[in-house]
This record gives sequence, structure tokens and C-alpha cells, in this order.
Amino acid sequence: MLGVVFTEFMEMVETEFSFDTADEILELSGIGGDRGFTAVQDYDHNDMVRLVAALHKVTGLEIDTLIMTFGSHLFSRFRVTHAQFFDGATGSLEFLENIEEYIHVEVKKLYPNAELPTFRCIRHAPDRLEMNYSSTRPFGDLAHGLIRGCGDHFGESLNIIRNDQDGPMKVQFLITREAAV
Ligand code: HEM
Repeated sequence: MLGVVFTEFMEMVETEFSFDTADEILELSGIGGDRGFTAVQDYDHNDMVRLVAALHKVTGLEIDTLIMTFGSHLFSRFRVTHAQFFDGATGSLEFLENIEEYIHVEVKKLYPNAELPTFRCIRHAPDRLEMNYSSTRPFGDLAHGLIRGCGDHFGESLNIIRNDQDGPMKVQFLITREAAV
């Protein structure tokens, strides 16, 4: 998993919780006292799972809630760090529909080592999108949070029905755009 995901995660922990919490979870997860993740380096995705488990231990908040919150946060960061992908974007469903064939394709060019999930999308209606997430890694909650963050970004209220099909590695999202908020 790319370091950029780790650097953004640690930054979220520092701002939403505290520097001490950030140090504590590094210690608890056995990753060590040095917070020096490098954005373009690769790390074991299990290290992310360990960091989230440690944050759960320290804060008492549920793991799925923590990962989803991180997903929303990550989306708002992508808005800043990868602003070029937002040019011409008209709405949340249109943006989400583009992840597989445009955004993650460009991400792969920027970071050839990136390990990305697959999204099979079906547009049932202008305001209804089915997204089928599939990955070798268990980040369905992260996808869920990113989808929420996307709705927030476009000021659209999304109703997200989620069906886990193979734990958090294969998840169907049925997304309905309800109204502008
Ligand atoms: C501007 C928008 C986006 C950018 C720049 C972006 C970029 C990235 C990057 C750099 C990674 C890390 C790859 C690695 O660790 O090797 C990643 C992973 C991921 N992305 Fe995106 N992404 C974007 C939007 C989205 C959205 C909206 C979703 C959800 C629908 C999504 C779902 C995921 C998931 C779930 C992963 C974790 C890897 C996995 O599940 O296998 N991304 N993305």
C-alpha cells in the first residue's frame, strides 16, 4: 500500500486526535517510534490494518467507523493533492463512475507500484449507480468512506446501501442520489 495513504492517515490521527495518540498507535502496532512514512514508498497493507486496530484500542471507536471516517478524510485530501482529477467533474455519481476507467488508471501512471481495487459500475438511472468493489485487500470500508466523502464534496446527499459479499474484499454499493444538500 502506498505511503501516501499512511501519511494521510497519520495526519488525520494527529489533527482529529493528538500527536500523542499518533505516537501511541505506532508503538502499539509495532511499527516503531519513527513517523517517517514516505509518500511514494510501498508498505505492507497489514500495517494499515494494525494502525487502525491500535487506534480502535486507544480511542474505543469502532474499526469500521474509523476506516470510513478516514475514507471521507482521504477524499477531501485528494481534492487538494490531485486537483487535476476534479477538472470538469459535474457530480458525485459521474465522478465515481470514472474511478475505474480514468482516475485509478491515471493513478497507476503516477505510481506504477499502486495496488488498486476493481470497480464494476452499472448506471441504472441518472441518480442510481451500482458499484461493485473487488480487491485482494480488505478495504471495503475505505471505499465506503471515499464514496461518502465524494457525496459531501459535491454537496449531494447519497443513500448508500452496502452488501458485503466476501467480507470486506468484495462489496456491492447501491448508491442513490437523493437531493442536493
Ligand atoms: C481523486 C480521487 C482518487 C485518487 C487520486 C485515488 C488514488 C488512490 C491511491 C493513490 C490509492 C493507493 C494505492 C496503493 O496503496 O497502492 C488508492 C487506493 C484505493 N482507492 Fe482510490 N483514489 C481516488 C478516488 C477513489 C474513490 C472515490 C474510491 C471509492 C469509490 C476509491 C477507492 C479506493 C480503495 C478502496 C483503495 C484501497 C486499495 C484496495 O482497496 O485494494 N478511490 N486510490
